[in-house]
Amino acid sequence: MKLLIKNGTLVLKNGEKKADVLIENGKIVKIADCINEDCRTLDASGKHVLPGLIDMHVHLREPGYEGKEDIESGSKASVAGGFTQVCCMPNTNPVCDNAVVVTYIKHRQGEVALCKINPIGAITRGQEGKAMAEIGKMKAAGAVAISDDGKSVADSNIMRLAMEYAHGFGLKCLCHCEDINLVDGGVVNEGYNSTLTGLKGSLRAAEDIMIARDIALSESLDIPVHICHVSTYSGVEIIRSAKKRGVKVTAETCPHYFILNDDIITSFDTNTKVNPPVREEKDRKAIIEGLKDGTLDCIVTDHAPHSAKDKQVEYNFAAFGMSGIETSFPLSYTKLVKTGILSLSELMNKMSANPAKILGLEGGELKKGEVADITIVSLGEKYKIDSKNFLSKGKNTPFNGFEVYGKVNYTIVDGDIKYGE
Ligand code: DOR
Ligand code: ZN
Ligand code: ZN
Repeated sequence: MKLLIKNGTLVLKNGEKKADVLIENGKIVKIADCINEDCRTLDASGKHVLPGLIDMHVHLREPGYEGKEDIESGSKASVAGGFTQVCCMPNTNPVCDNAVVVTYIKHRQGEVALCKINPIGAITRGQEGKAMAEIGKMKAAGAVAISDDGKSVADSNIMRLAMEYAHGFGLKCLCHCEDINLVDGGVVNEGYNSTLTGLKGSLRAAEDIMIARDIALSESLDIPVHICHVSTYSGVEIIRSAKKRGVKVTAETCPHYFILNDDIITSFDTNTKVNPPVREEKDRKAIIEGLKDGTLDCIVTDHAPHSAKDKQVEYNFAAFGMSGIETSFPLSYTKLVKTGILSLSELMNKMSANPAKILGLEGGELKKGEVADITIVSLGEKYKIDSKNFLSKGKNTPFNGFEVYGKVNYTIVDGDIKYGE
């Protein structure tokens, strides 16, 4: 099976280049100025050819919360968003804390056969923070990392043991950083706007303390660690200074943290409720600086679909999270590349190459011999985000009505067109 992509602009690690791409048996076999082959051909004139997007932090909700999302709807949404590969967090029901659930997710991925789905196993059994999960068995079944995302591991000694144990199996801990006692029921950032609205605030320190703790563990043990969804200016600074000392820390942020600030909560729209919360303008600016100087390695979505009934309640009772997989690329392109903050190659490194490197996944780069996971986009195409068009069951976005550039035309996984046409 061959596929030829003609006349597109390829986005490579260090720049862009016009070239044709020939795919055979799921692999990129040739990249050259002009390739002619008698096979299925996609005309990518005027379009950009990207390494398939990789999202290392999504919530697909299956098993257990299929009313919010399931592996089929989440996969359809992922390929519509340009993602060829996603990694799903374990806060399902049952929790993905054993090999059976990991195997189930991989099996469902095979049935749905759209994007690649890499399960992330829990750090602790039932994500209860008390006893370690079956890390070795989950790795053998296909887990690519461990995380108690949705919660922090409060007990520092359990976190230490998990980091050591996981490292022995070649897995990284992905840390959701939140001191739950300090959060104390807060639902938004603690500051002027929490006072104004009367919504209970949560201090930056609740996130920063755990970022600092997990970095301290990583440094003391000399074991790599990855910090999830950084939202504070001070967290960026802690990570930056740790990297300067040579600590093996990597970190991610999400579009809502570099696009929004907490003025949005004055609408009381529950689609603005997310954990960690959207913070103040100085945090947003610092996150952009962190993306620019490499302190923040990846852009993830933290795709957290919820049903209407989970969101159409008073702010205090609404679920935390945003449905983000279908808006991440156009928002990031519009807000970071069109504005000159990052080049398109730099954006692709954050949305494909770096996540692949951090988790040891295939893909991430357009080169001969690499797996043919490819996304083709029209960067000039402008449209308004409308959650009614989402394929995800979760319509919970704060970005409705935002004008964005960058339409996904095709998503190709292992050389097969999974979205487009
Ligand atoms: O906003 C969030 N939603 N933050 C989390 O940590 C969990 C996630 C979810 O699972 O809904
Ligand atoms: Zn989280
Ligand atoms: Zn998450």
